[in-house]
Amino acid sequence: MIEYRNIRIALLGAGSVGSQVAGLLIEHRDELAARVGTGLDLVGIAVRDPQRPRDPRIPEALYTTDAESLILGADIVIELMGGLEPARELLLLAMNSGADVITANKALLATHGPELFAAAEQVGAQLYYEAAVGGAIPIIRPLRDSLAGDRVERILGIVNGTTNYILDRMHSQGDSVQEALAEAQRLGYAEADPTADVEGFDAAQKAAILASLAFHTAVPLEAVHREGILGITLEQVAAAQRSGFVIKLLAVCERLTDAERGIDGVSARGHPALVPAAHPLASVHGANNAVFLQAEAAGSLMFYGAGAGGLETASAVLGDVVSAARRHVVGGPGVAESTHADLPALPIAMVTTRYQIGMEVLDRPGVLAQIALVLSDHGVSVETVQQTAAGAEAAAPAATRVIGTHAATEAALAATVHALADSEVVSAVTSVLRVEGVS
Ligand code: NDP
Ligand code: HSE
Repeated sequence: MIEYRNIRIALLGAGSVGSQVAGLLIEHRDELAARVGTGLDLVGIAVRDPQRPRDPRIPEALYTTDAESLILGADIVIELMGGLEPARELLLLAMNSGADVITANKALLATHGPELFAAAEQVGAQLYYEAAVGGAIPIIRPLRDSLAGDRVERILGIVNGTTNYILDRMHSQGDSVQEALAEAQRLGYAEADPTADVEGFDAAQKAAILASLAFHTAVPLEAVHREGILGITLEQVAAAQRSGFVIKLLAVCERLTDAERGIDGVSARGHPALVPAAHPLASVHGANNAVFLQAEAAGSLMFYGAGAGGLETASAVLGDVVSAARRHVVGGPGVAESTHADLPALPIAMVTTRYQIGMEVLDRPGVLAQIALVLSDHGVSVETVQQTAAGAEAAAPAATRVIGTHAATEAALAATVHALADSEVVSAVTSVLRVEGVS
């Protein structure tokens, strides 16, 4: 039997995820070698500050600040530094010098994915990124391989653990968004600067990655509609609970076809939405992630688990390491990106969805008829109406009304909300949330 030489692995970054990847490569060395068919040598780890106290499992001699030299001697380069630069440059250098690359960097992939995939294809390198969406959850490989013969229709993903924790706490503990964020930071779920999480940037990046894979189309980040969760109020949470929903920050990826409207494309977006309490995504609690997917033949599938955490995310990275290393040993097809469909990424205005619109209204006869008229003028039909009387402190007889609409175009729904806000019977539109996961 031919003995293959050991595979040389360079690691860029030894933070939360990188230190766990290095630790597992060292601790599980024999088992990984048996699975791959040859040894995996961790030849070095690039960091910014080699003097910083580090994981005791890892020999100090492995640390370097010279990422370029480390890359030039490697068969596989794992990028776990985060950020756009120098991560992008270093991955390009690695592929151009003959290495396969692995990354968990969703910001990099969502921003520079097409450039990186093109470089990989040009030089025949492989680019793996299982950890970039959903942490430990296998979702990239299922989309790319297991479902490669099916047609994905729709993805609803809870892909950001920090915001799921915050929204879950608002529902279960009655915390305000700021109180729940402070708790998420105290527990180490949220970053010191949680902007990417709470403003929806992280979910939008993951939506771009999932939509690109699912629909065989490069979906640029700029085409992903994004809304964060900082505007979500306890009143909205209470109203959601009263009407049998929970609020989740979702990455929504849809294949949109409507011959009558001349629509044939994809939509990717990240925003808070109402999900029916009986939907599988409603029972995703805490900082967990889940991706609910509908495909033409497979039907509904759900992938669930830890969306972050150093050790959990390292599991997904190690899976990529074994795949990449096996290919070095036994050859076989790689994991080329498939963008053959090349569909347009459609703006949110072309999406068809449902809304729940909360408003303060005058509590007098004929108000409901006037509201219904505004909706019908915009081609939107009412599905549900709920009314709660305002407190005794209200100056005039007033009520809080929540209108649930049937599906309509976003453009029509947005115009409806504007018209309601201008209507003399509506004092204020207090809440506008999309409804997802209703068949
Ligand atoms: P950390 O901030 O914990 O670690 C980053 C590491 O990269 C540090 O070791 C740092 O060095 C090193 N580094 C940063 N910039 C440079 C540079 N210019 N040159 C050399 N080394 C550098 O990040 P995480 O481990 O949390 O995240 C890594 C990646 O994984 C990110 O892309 C992130 O989005 C992704 N990810 C993270 C998850 C998580 O749960 N943490 C979950 C899923 C994905 P030093 O130690 O000297 O500062
Ligand atoms: N900040 C991200 C989250 C980490 O909260 O889910 C995983 O990408």
